[in-house]
Amino acid sequence: MATKVYLNEISNVDVGRRNILFHPLEPPPKYIFNDVINSIYVGRTEILNVPFHWDFRYLTNPHIAIVGITGSGKSYFIKTFLTRASFVWNSNSIIIDWAGEYKDWVLQTGGKVVSLGRGNYINLLDLGGMKPYDRIKQVLRSLSILTDLSQFPEQKRLTAEAIEQAYIKAKFKMDSVEQKDELGRPLEPPTLKDVVKILEEKAELGTYEFPAELDNAIYRLKQFTRPGEDYFAQKSTVDLDKLVSSGLVDIDLSGLPDERFRALGALVILQFIAEKMRASGWLSKKGLRLLVVLDEAWKISKDENSDAVMIIREGRKYGFGLIIASQNPTDIHESIFSNVGTTFILKVKFDKYLDYLQNSLNFSDYIRERITTFGVGQAAVNLAFHTPEKFPQTFIVKKIEGEEPSKDVFIELKEVASEVMKEMGTTAIPFKVSELRERLRRFGMDETKVEMVVKAFERNNRHLDAVTLVVLLERMGVERKNLAEFFKEMGVDDESLINIFSKADLRKEGKKGELTSVVLEDE
Ligand SMILES: Nc1ncnc2c1ncn2[C@@H]1O[C@H](COP(=O)(O)OP(=O)(O)OP(=O)(O)O)[C@@H](O)[C@H]1O
Ligand SMILES: [Mg+2]
Repeated sequence: MATKVYLNEISNVDVGRRNILFHPLEPPPKYIFNDVINSIYVGRTEILNVPFHWDFRYLTNPHIAIVGITGSGKSYFIKTFLTRASFVWNSNSIIIDWAGEYKDWVLQTGGKVVSLGRGNYINLLDLGGMKPYDRIKQVLRSLSILTDLSQFPEQKRLTAEAIEQAYIKAKFKMDSVEQKDELGRPLEPPTLKDVVKILEEKAELGTYEFPAELDNAIYRLKQFTRPGEDYFAQKSTVDLDKLVSSGLVDIDLSGLPDERFRALGALVILQFIAEKMRASGWLSKKGLRLLVVLDEAWKISKDENSDAVMIIREGRKYGFGLIIASQNPTDIHESIFSNVGTTFILKVKFDKYLDYLQNSLNFSDYIRERITTFGVGQAAVNLAFHTPEKFPQTFIVKKIEGEEPSKDVFIELKEVASEVMKEMGTTAIPFKVSELRERLRRFGMDETKVEMVVKAFERNNRHLDAVTLVVLLERMGVERKNLAEFFKEMGVDDESLINIFSKADLRKEGKKGELTSVVLEDE
């Protein structure tokens, strides 16, 4: 069969418009590199090397799911993201910190840590601006997620009734947001202990026709009121009203004794956040008002009734974004997973998880293959655009480029400083870690060595004495003349420099080949 081929002259622009001829490999820059002022920088795309700026205006919503094996870089990305969001949009953040892994970082960056179970309590019956009737529904929902309450309607009814009585006894108006006593002072909400007491009194009367139901209802609540385990059954020490507008807040759940208590803590916080969200009104300006992070909170991420789902559904219009991270994508409920606007897939190994991801996000086998061999910080990004245009929604970011907190390290000079330097009070040289890294790279050191040196500082409370540093760097192949130049630039005088090098020589002779134990400076 003969085929005739006709050649026509057409302009490049026209060629570009023809999707049949030009199928882009990554989303067009318009969607990932547009308004660099109002977006969050993540890293460069692999193929076209475009700096990817996350801009949720083009996405179905601002919510983000992050999956990846342990150590793949989920928490690192979250820290980077929150840092930039606070910078770009002045966003507040609340981290629901299952394992307490964000605590140190939050403190370092000047945020607040609320450690539940370690001196901080939340009263489950606090209203957080809600009417008691609404709050009762939420409390029952939490108890249903965490216990078998929903299987026992009569016990559920008894519990609800007793909570209501506890509020009434404490002079609360059931259908009101305003709760004041006769003198206009705020009322003190009851606790679960009061609820248990009411049920016990009812049991003592002996007139109720299903005593076993009553006993079981009491028993269930008592799990949360025993002395030492009454984290949610005493007066709140946390100002829930302020939570959503306090900059960076870490809700550290690691001090609670088990998964059930942690889940309860997380659920309560989410409920209050969702409530504040509704009360805060729509956000008309650009950006996000609050970012809520759920890292490894599988118990709540799995349940459709948790308020995480509510924030996903309604967050966009209020400027609330949810960031949900897990090692196991199947732990994130489908109604969350299929509704987030952005998914970051870091390294994933299990076929079961890859199947799940590929089925819901529809990326190519090539990308699937790549995900299994990603290095730390490398990610496939899936964006759910709300444009009808056709282009790939999943692309690879070479490396998430992180924002580290401005941490200082110190080169100690105490033992080597000349009298002059001592008089000037210069007995240590401070560095930002990023600056130190940059300096080390200038010595021609590769990244592995750079990291080893940074680690040496970190292992010693971030203080390393100059002599140890010199021994370490010389062993890594840095020349003495470069070291001398480095110290001089840092303001170290000749006399001190001679001290440093002669002590380094002594040490090398004394203990051949072996790095002298690093001096620990307590300050
Ligand atoms: N993009 C990155 N650039 C440089 N270092 C990174 C990057 N991502 C992660 N790291 C480093 O890798 C280590 C592990 O990262 P991270 O704690 O974020 O892993 P994770 O996925 O949260 O693991 P887990 O599931 O165990 O919590 C950390 O020391 C972190 O500093
Ligand atoms: Mg982590």
